[in-house]
Amino acid sequence: MSSTWWHDAVIYQIYPRSFRASGSQTQGDLQGVIAGLASIAALGVDAVWLSPFYASPMADSGYDISDHRNVDPRFGSLDDARALINAAHELGLRIIVDYVPNHVSDQHVWFQEALNSPIDSMERNRFHFRDGKGSDGSEPPNNWISVFNGPAWTRTTNADGSPGQWYLHLFAPEQPDVNWTNPQVQQDMLDTLRFWLDQGVDGFRVDVAMGMAKDMTYADQDDAQGLIDAIRLDLFDGSPESFERRELVNNSRIFDRDELHEYVRMMRAVLDSYRDDLVSVAEAWVYPPERAHRYIRPDEFHQIFNFDFLVAPWDTQHLGDAISRTLADMTAGTPTWALDNHDTPRVATRLGGGPEGVARARALMCLTLALPGSVYIYQGQELGLEDVNVPDSERDDPVWHRSGGAQLGRDGARVPLPWAGDAPSFGFSTSTTTWLSQPHQWASLTREAQQADEQSTLNLVRRALDIRHDLRDTSLAQHPTVTIDGELLILRRDDITVVTNTGQDPRPISTTGDLLLCSRRVSADHAQGSIPGNTTWWLTGSVSRP
Ligand code: GLC
Repeated sequence: MSSTWWHDAVIYQIYPRSFRASGSQTQGDLQGVIAGLASIAALGVDAVWLSPFYASPMADSGYDISDHRNVDPRFGSLDDARALINAAHELGLRIIVDYVPNHVSDQHVWFQEALNSPIDSMERNRFHFRDGKGSDGSEPPNNWISVFNGPAWTRTTNADGSPGQWYLHLFAPEQPDVNWTNPQVQQDMLDTLRFWLDQGVDGFRVDVAMGMAKDMTYADQDDAQGLIDAIRLDLFDGSPESFERRELVNNSRIFDRDELHEYVRMMRAVLDSYRDDLVSVAEAWVYPPERAHRYIRPDEFHQIFNFDFLVAPWDTQHLGDAISRTLADMTAGTPTWALDNHDTPRVATRLGGGPEGVARARALMCLTLALPGSVYIYQGQELGLEDVNVPDSERDDPVWHRSGGAQLGRDGARVPLPWAGDAPSFGFSTSTTTWLSQPHQWASLTREAQQADEQSTLNLVRRALDIRHDLRDTSLAQHPTVTIDGELLILRRDDITVVTNTGQDPRPISTTGDLLLCSRRVSADHAQGSIPGNTTWWLTGSVSRP
């Protein structure tokens, strides 16, 4: 097996809470993942990335970890995790697990020890504890703001009931940030990598990689709200101002600081000491691409998520620019492409929703699968699912709660997957209810229903992956050229041409060669010499405008 298998891999993201349950639970578990794995392998992907299943009070859906080296009982046991890794390997799938180095749960033994230890103790130094401002210390130590809204500091209470110091949390108060300048923190975090490597995993997706270092002078942040807005996907509209706003992140007090690369190099050294075919992919919402490239220097991460592409609006110019920017510096590592994940709206929803949003999502998936590099597919994308309008009473995301409902949060994209049957829970579990309710309309979108429908999104993705696989060492090994012609985006790779029409209306084009793949349900239009709106075609030969 090639040590650089990830260069052109397709990686499927499993969100264990919502993938599949093995019994009557309303939430998913690891045995459920094992049960569903063969269907994922049958899609033709190379690897799966599992979002956290570690011990957690679930204040942030498992990204608040109380024991990094154990499995939460609601997901199963360490034996289940080992069985899952083996099952994946037997199916020819690599396993990437989530790694959360920026923060822990407030229930983590270290944080509990810190709360019970004196100011300036070693226990407190593993976190960021500071005195408050003002004569009675009742104001936060500085103006830093949490990604989940409100101050990034919470005040503690001393054993005698008096108000105490404040601690830093870039996310929810239940997720205190650790202090990576502390050697014990470094040691322990690196031990977690070793632990999972010893269990046989093939790589890590590194959560909030851009946040690991803080300005240890704890000075105020200029435009603290602007900094948080800069990483809010819902505020990005592709305008020059929204691009400019993203640059606020560079070397700010809390994000994308130069010092963090030292920690990244420590992680990479651990990986390199194990095997040469491991992969690490950084979650780092940084901009411009030159900042992103710093994370994938030869002794740092192998990959970084391409958020530039993920936020690009449905428009040839934006998509073409994002693709060209990414491909411009291929020497900086292999490109990655993702259209959504558990933190973003589903791609069909982001592109307008309804039949049109789904048609666009299908077209964009086909375009993406023709690009060089690795593609990350979030569970349910292959079913063409849209976000669900979750009732307020079910909403669980701290973003919803901490914004007082002003921001809907991420629950809409986290609803348990529909597998089979015509009523909830659609084979997700033997229960009829799920932790977030599934809509009845999903009856026609179950994996079972889509397997039987030749033109379903599931079969489209499977076909695209098949062709990608067949051509990966030949045509798709060639560097693409990208051309924009009005609403047409044309990608040429050797003797394969991929054309996407982002417009509503059909566009006349002349083609030579055969239609290999059409993102639309009905492909007869090819014969008529015009590509329908919101459609991608893969063709042998070339295209031209008549
Ligand atoms: C990452 C995760 C997100 C989580 C946050 C805090 O951005 O993807 O789900 O809420 O980190 O851990």
